[in-house]
Amino acid sequence: MKRLGPTVAALLLAAPLVAEDAPKRSAAFETYCIVCHGEDGKANTEEGKKKGARDLTNAKWQATVSDSRLEGSITRGRDKMPAFGRKLTAEQIKALVAEVRSLAQSH
Ligand code: HEC
Repeated sequence: MKRLGPTVAALLLAAPLVAEDAPKRSAAFETYCIVCHGEDGKANTEEGKKKGARDLTNAKWQATVSDSRLEGSITRGRDKMPAFGRKLTAEQIKALVAEVRSLAQSH
């Protein structure tokens, strides 16, 4: 009982590797969004700062906007953000809204 079984030991060794995984963005987000909003959604990018892109991780802001508004902004653009309605399908845009929601963190 004093020694850990090999399976438990393997799990303990594997856990830190899993935890270190960087947050993965979808292919659409990588292709069209990270240039301004960044891999982490915080818009800490050169282009994002130039355009005044929003920090998508801000949970307080997220609580004030509806899914349909976010969908509309991605489809038709908003201020200096370009429209993606011609580049992406409605399904892709819906998936991006869900992805944006998953980025929310309390500040
Ligand atoms: C050229 C830079 C740029 C790119 C590329 C870009 N955005 Fe934005 N984004 C912005 C800017 C600037 C704003 C702030 C607009 C505002 O609030 O007036 C913004 C705001 C947003 C918002 C908040 C909209 C709202 O209704 O308040 C969402 C959601 C968003 N972007 C998602 C995306 C997604 C998803 C993509 C990729 C398909 C993307 N953005 C690509 C610049 C960009």
